[in-house]
Amino acid sequence: MPQIDVLQMCSFSEFLNDELQARFRVHRWYALQESEQEHILREHAGRIRAVVTGGHLGISPSLMARLPSLGIVAINGVGFDKVDLVESKRRDIRVTTTPGVLTDDVADLAVGLIISLLRGIPASDRFLRGGQWTSGERPLAHKVTGRRFGIVGLGNIGRAIAHRLSAFGPVAYCDVNQQPANYIYVPSAIELARQSDVLVLATTANASTQRMVGRPLLDALGPQGYLINVARGTLVDEPELIKALAENRIAGAALDVFADEPRVPEALRNTPNVVVTPHIASATVETREAMAHAVLANLDAHFAGKSLPGAIA
Ligand code: 8YV
Repeated sequence: MPQIDVLQMCSFSEFLNDELQARFRVHRWYALQESEQEHILREHAGRIRAVVTGGHLGISPSLMARLPSLGIVAINGVGFDKVDLVESKRRDIRVTTTPGVLTDDVADLAVGLIISLLRGIPASDRFLRGGQWTSGERPLAHKVTGRRFGIVGLGNIGRAIAHRLSAFGPVAYCDVNQQPANYIYVPSAIELARQSDVLVLATTANASTQRMVGRPLLDALGPQGYLINVARGTLVDEPELIKALAENRIAGAALDVFADEPRVPEALRNTPNVVVTPHIASATVETREAMAHAVLANLDAHFAGKSLPGAIA
């Protein structure tokens, strides 16, 4: 049977890289120079039937337009904000994600970031390693237990975060609609920010949530408030966040995602009241293995003409 041509947009776990290679004729887009990419498109565009990509990356509309035989975009992740769903629907291109399997990891990281930020764990680590402990002590940090937590978006991940944080303090959330949940519902994100000490972003990125964290929301969060983002960088107006941090209009931020990854503004990298991680929320051996199986299951089902376990609505 002739092999199916697949375009792989980024590197994955060794397991997924190898499995893709074993099942398909894989073109590793990310490993090619621009001229080589052009060559691949000229030679193979018409044969490429699947794109495999990360949630953070998706596929650009211009590249999608150049793949006339594309039948599926299989995302190794849950975010589909980087795929043009109007166009994929129009062309009957299926789009799949890996729901469920990364929920716990993302929620765990959110809690880790909160404790890291309020207790100053990364700064304390640098302090000790830098040999400063022998000549003094770290300034006092801030208590986590008893804080009021606000969660923007009570989907699977938001719920898992809420569940964990309810061990620390009262939890409220906002969402487009009130959800069946025992947490306090606050319809507006700005109002939620006003009522929270720690605001966690766990919502989908789309046109209505883009840059939802701007000056009004940051000012509502206020000088004692902390912002945590484990969702998407595009939810935040980064220049406004940088200003709010510099002017101490909020207390701090912990960010796993950024507007223009992997580029992170210097101001965010060098501000002391910020904890930054390089989009690692789902990056554990166990979860990436589960995600890999989910990606492969979606591709296998697609090419077998079966219903897709991770098809997005
Ligand atoms: C991953 C993600 O970093 O699920 C998502 O949408 O952004 C992350 O889990 C990425 O997709 C890994 O390829």
